[in-house]
Amino acid sequence: MNDLEHLAIIMDGNGRWAKRYGKERSYGHRVGAKNVREITKYAAKMGIKYLSLYAFSTENWNRPKTEVAVLMKLLEKYLKTEVSVLKEHNIKFTVIGDISKFSHSLQKEIHNAKEQTAHCTGMTQVVAINYGARDEIIRAINEATKTHQILTPEILENHLDTAGMPPVDLLIRTGGDCRLSNFLLWQAAYAELFFTKTLWPEFSFGELEAIVSEYRQTERRFGAVISE
Ligand code: FPP
Repeated sequence: MNDLEHLAIIMDGNGRWAKRYGKERSYGHRVGAKNVREITKYAAKMGIKYLSLYAFSTENWNRPKTEVAVLMKLLEKYLKTEVSVLKEHNIKFTVIGDISKFSHSLQKEIHNAKEQTAHCTGMTQVVAINYGARDEIIRAINEATKTHQILTPEILENHLDTAGMPPVDLLIRTGGDCRLSNFLLWQAAYAELFFTKTLWPEFSFGELEAIVSEYRQTERRFGAVISE
């Protein structure tokens, strides 16, 4: 049975879900944000140590300005309202990505959520915002080469936004597309990948449980040969 320390999710399909019900895309994002709360609580109950969620990529700035504004507002609201829920469930909050591009008030809420949950010892919820793996790797190389002439995987890892976190064991993408979209490319090198057609607002505990149980049975070889 495989351990599951680090679960990563690409939460895709909010827009299509809203359209299906004749609603605006922003409605899909709002319902998607509610599902973040539910799946986070459930993942913590399952004993997962790190849950990484792709909320806003470095490429998402190319969406219509109104949609970007909705996502920023949602993130800020989420941080304001969810801190107490995270604390209640002993969940530590952190972010990956370059947050220097965000408004002062959003950055303040991010720091506040990190500070308020710093003592929590259960699961860590890692929200990826203004995150792109290529951007993260380049930032890490630029930082690491200030002090090291030759890089090793360990040195690079210590400069990634995920420094100190275990590699991704299982990566799930909702919404039907089979691609990684620049999410945790280094950390997911040996992750098991699961793609589901379910749109994020409808992704349920039941489906998570089914995927996790299939993952636990998978033979992970990490490039080696398992002796019979
Ligand atoms: C992809 O759906 C989803 C996003 C780009 C944003 C994800 C954001 C949330 C789930 C809500 C906010 C997050 C937090 C942590 C509060 P899409 O818009 O690409 O959907 P589509 O593929 O159907 O168009």
